[in-house]
Amino acid sequence: MVGQEVARRRTFAIISHPDAGKTTLTEKLLLFAGAIHIAGSVKARKASRHATSDWMEIEKQRGISVASSVMQMEYGDCVINLLDTPGHQDFSEDTYRVLTAVDAALMVIDAGNGVEAQTLRLLEVCRARNTPIITFVNKMDREVREPLDLIDEIERTLRMAAVPFTWPMGMGRGFQGVFDLRHNHMRVFHPGSDRLDDEDEIIQGLDNPLLAERFGDQAANLQQEIELIRGASPEFDQEAFLAGRQTPVFFGSAINNFGIREVLDALVGLAPPPGSRSALQRHVQPHELRFTGVVFKIQANMNPAHRDRIAFVRICSGRFERGMNLRIARNDKDIRTNGVVSFLSQRRDLLDVAYPGDIIGIPNHGTLQLGDTLTEGERLQFTGLPFFAPEIFQTVEIADPMRSKQLKLGLAQLGEEGAIQVFRPHLGSALLLGAVGALQFDVVAHRLKYEYSVDARLAPAKYQLARWITAEDARELKRFIDTNAHRVAYDAVGAPTFLASFGAELSVAEENWKHIRFHKMREHA
Ligand code: G4P
Repeated sequence: MVGQEVARRRTFAIISHPDAGKTTLTEKLLLFAGAIHIAGSVKARKASRHATSDWMEIEKQRGISVASSVMQMEYGDCVINLLDTPGHQDFSEDTYRVLTAVDAALMVIDAGNGVEAQTLRLLEVCRARNTPIITFVNKMDREVREPLDLIDEIERTLRMAAVPFTWPMGMGRGFQGVFDLRHNHMRVFHPGSDRLDDEDEIIQGLDNPLLAERFGDQAANLQQEIELIRGASPEFDQEAFLAGRQTPVFFGSAINNFGIREVLDALVGLAPPPGSRSALQRHVQPHELRFTGVVFKIQANMNPAHRDRIAFVRICSGRFERGMNLRIARNDKDIRTNGVVSFLSQRRDLLDVAYPGDIIGIPNHGTLQLGDTLTEGERLQFTGLPFFAPEIFQTVEIADPMRSKQLKLGLAQLGEEGAIQVFRPHLGSALLLGAVGALQFDVVAHRLKYEYSVDARLAPAKYQLARWITAEDARELKRFIDTNAHRVAYDAVGAPTFLASFGAELSVAEENWKHIRFHKMREHA
């Protein structure tokens, strides 16, 4: 039973640079899978989040997507879990963690802009984990770059072979459709979003005289280009795709419902089902009968009316049933799972059963932390959830000392959520905040104000970089900490960290302390 359910699961994240069309494509995927019936619901969600949640005002002001969310849909025999990621680079830490919870990624590229900076950073993470990537080139209804150019850029920047599965005829006003290279037919483009693309007109065969009749020179061009790419691009190789060495490429126009079906078919047909996961103790296979899962994201106060806190858990093996007892491997505490929810767009439904690849939401009051492993009792700790050394630091002060308890509570919760990293200096009591992107500070100040009624003043701190420190010999580590007491702080889980104001300080420390290791990234363990 578990094995069958695993085989039909596909869990992927959708990544892009802001404005490439991620929200639009997400919505169209849901529409085509029949999970929503009216286009506009996801957009509406993007908008209604502003209305329902204060702190999302920041998002509104900056026009970016801060929060990631989870959607599930059925398509054919498959169950697809789609994880949204914030596009803005200042929230990339959150995105990295979301990427650890998926088996594949769908990359959306704006055909006018090609591969943009933020996409590149996310791709680094996919590459580090060998996550297979499917590419969707969006906005072909605009005057964009030459497709051959785009393919070339994808190959150069992603350092993987791009294998076109469809090829566009024309662009902008002259966009006539895409030719499906595997099924050898042309899907004719009609602008508009009030129909599904299985109602589109299909013309069979590249040598069909109808093509020349209808599209004149453009048909000849298409034939030439296809000949060219058939000669130049490699055969699609499933193994190379799964290893992250090849990406299948699709062209379309999300806003016009065009090219969506091909992407859904690729997700189902090409993307892998949930695979095995590494834990410190052993590899865990998805079809094992006992439940295991890992917390990859925590979000507090998703609904300000409820002040709730939801841990997002990726199921790694076994079957989840509502009400079952789960053990937190970190401290052997048990939690009941009566109120566990699944996600679909803005709705949150109570969930009865779930399988590997699915994401479940466990409401809790701080019992669950990022990176926690949940089991039916086995001592197990999944690895691979990354924390990155902060690059910007701020000190935090409050106007009203009477609120210091709330400040501490707020920072502790935001820290556990991963919204910001909170450091407690070895000397002194003033807390220090660390972030990878500057916007994280704005979000924290805003949320402290609206969720914890704390007016916090954040000011730049003198530090420029941080490194987690470890040593084989605990005495050596203690000696380092004692000697550098004014530069050491502890993060949310008490891991000691060395803080430096200049790069040179770090080099000196590394030079003088050969037995201390300085880490840029910490994996939850
Ligand atoms: P994001 O989530 O990646 O940030 O992008 P989003 O879907 O919000 O799309 C960004 C903009 O690009 C939107 O326009 C959207 O309508 C437009 N867009 C998406 N897909 C296509 C496409 O296939 N063709 C064209 N021409 N445009 C597309 P906007 O003006 O910013 O927002 P809105 O007023 O349309 O909501």
